[in-house]
Amino acid sequence: DHTNADTLRTPIVAVLGHVDHGKTSLLDKIRGSAVSEGEAGAITQHIGATDIPLDTISGMAGELIDPTDFDLPGLLFIDTPGHHSFSTLRARGGALADIAVLVVDVNDGFQPQTEEAIDILRRTGTPFVVAANKVDTTPGWNPQDGEPIQKSLEAQSERAESMLNENLYEIIGQLSDAGFSADLYWRVQDFQKNIGVVPLSAITGEGVPDLLTVLMGLSQRFMKEEMAIDVFGAGEGTVLEVKDERGFGATIDTVVYDGVVRNGDQIVVGGQEEPIVTEIRALLQPRPLEEIRTEKKFEKVAEVGAAAGVKIAAPDLDRAMAGAPVRVVRDRPVEEVVEEVKAE
Ligand code: GTP
Ligand code: MG
Repeated sequence: DHTNADTLRTPIVAVLGHVDHGKTSLLDKIRGSAVSEGEAGAITQHIGATDIPLDTISGMAGELIDPTDFDLPGLLFIDTPGHHSFSTLRARGGALADIAVLVVDVNDGFQPQTEEAIDILRRTGTPFVVAANKVDTTPGWNPQDGEPIQKSLEAQSERAESMLNENLYEIIGQLSDAGFSADLYWRVQDFQKNIGVVPLSAITGEGVPDLLTVLMGLSQRFMKEEMAIDVFGAGEGTVLEVKDERGFGATIDTVVYDGVVRNGDQIVVGGQEEPIVTEIRALLQPRPLEEIRTEKKFEKVAEVGAAAGVKIAAPDLDRAMAGAPVRVVRDRPVEEVVEEVKAE
C-alpha cells in the first residue's frame, strides 16, 4: 500500500556494540564518509545521527532490494560509543531505537559492552540483528568489495570459510547463552523469533547489502504500525548534545522521533534545574548522509518531520541537558507540557 507513504516515518536504527568493533566504520561505509578516522584514537565519545535515504540504501543493496517493495523513506542511524565509560549514551541510543544493529567483531566475539548492549535491547524490547563485522580479517580472506555475502563466500577458500564459520558459530552460541535464539540470517524464517546474524566487513563493504536488506525488511514488516504517525502532530524528540554554534549561541542537536517541529514553535526542553520554555529561532538540518556530529553546512529549514536529526537554535538553550526531552507546545497549555517534561 503506497498511498500512505508520507505518513510513515523513518525508522530509527541504533548501532551498538563493544569499543572498536566497527560501529562508526560501518556507518562510514554506508555514508561514504570517514568520520571514524577523524576521531581521537578512533573512539566515539558522543551519540550521532545520520539520515540514509531509501535510494542510497537500494543503491548499496543492489540486486538484494527492490525499492518498490518499500514505502519507508529510509533509515535514521544512531551511532553510539562502545567505550565502557559511556553507558548513559548507549542506554539513550537504545531507548530511541525502533530497531538496532549489534556490531560484534567476528574474531573477538562477545565482550563486556556487547553484553551491556544486549541487556539494553532486552530491557527496551528492541528487535535487533547482529553484524558480525571484520570478516575480511579472516586469514587468507579474498575480499569482494561491496558484494552480498553469499557471493563473497563463493570466492573464499574452504579453509577461510571454515575459519569464519567457526567464529560465526561462536557468536551464535554466545547469543544463545544470552537467551536469544540466533542463526545466520539467510536461515532465519521469522525475524521476530530468531536473531539474524549478518557476516560483513565495514572496510570492504561485503555483506553490507545484506544488512541493509534485513533492516529494511524488519522495519517494513514488523514496525510499520509503529511508523505510522500523525505527521502534523506536535513534535517530540530527545537532546543528543548541547553545542555552541557560531552565530546561534547554544543549540541542541536533537533526534525528532514523533510529529513535526517547525521554525517559530514554542518548545519545552529538559534543563539542568528546570524545564526551559523557549521559541525556535532556527532549525538547522544536516544534509542526507551527513553525521550531525560533524556536519558543517547545515541547511536552514522551515520544518522537520520525524524521524530526523536536527540542530535547534533558540534562546536559553545553554541550560539544556543532553538526554532531556524536547516537546513542541502547539495547541496545549504550556504548563501541561512543562509538567510532562519534568516527569520524564
Ligand atoms: P567506538 O565508537 O569507540 O566504540 O568504536 P567503533 O565501534 O565505532 O569502531 P570504529 O569504527 O572506530 O573502528 C575501530 C577500528 O577497527 C578502526 O581502526 C577501523 O578501521 C577498524 N575496523 C572497523 N571495521 C573493520 C572491518 O570490517 N575490517 C577491518 N579490517 N577493520 C575494521
Ligand atoms: Mg565509533
